Amino acid sequence: MHKMILTMALAACSVPLLLIAQNGNVVLPQDKGPDKINVSTYPPAQQKAYSLFVSKCSACHTIARPINTTMTQGEWERYVKRMMHKPNSGISDSQGKEIYEFLVYDQVNRKDKNPSAFYKFLSDEEIEKLRAQQQ
Ligand code: HEC
Repeated sequence: MHKMILTMALAACSVPLLLIAQNGNVVLPQDKGPDKINVSTYPPAQQKAYSLFVSKCSACHTIARPINTTMTQGEWERYVKRMMHKPNSGISDSQGKEIYEFLVYDQVNRKDKNPSAFYKFLSDEEIEKLRAQQQ
């Protein structure tokens, strides 16, 4: 019983530490938006890719971050590669491609139709500024 309580206490303490280490302890405006997409009208391939996207792209930050960020197709291509190449991303080349295709479909069919509901991605400088403000 005591062991179980200890394990639970340790787990509770290490979760926030893990999050801080991986996302650099910064909250972006996109993180506060919705954390789900209704994909019921998306083609089957995109519905399948959505599950992969949710499981892979929520490892270091909230899934709300990519869900509420708008980018061009070329920017998504660069961004998925950037995320894949982070240490321990756990995303293979073929998974990255599938996620990229999902993001492009979602960009055109959801985000581009209602651009004011989403956030333009931030530059590295803007992220650094937020990080400094939040410390
Ligand atoms: C290994 C950790 C990790 C994984 C996995 C990860 N990200 Fe990120 N992501 C980050 C970090 C750290 C940042 C902050 C900016 C930076 O350091 O590049 C970030 C920032 C972002 C941003 C904010 C862009 C901006 O500039 O406003 C988006 C969008 C994003 N990630 C999308 C994704 C997508 C899509 C996936 C899945 C393919 C993903 N992330 C997987 C760590 C990760």
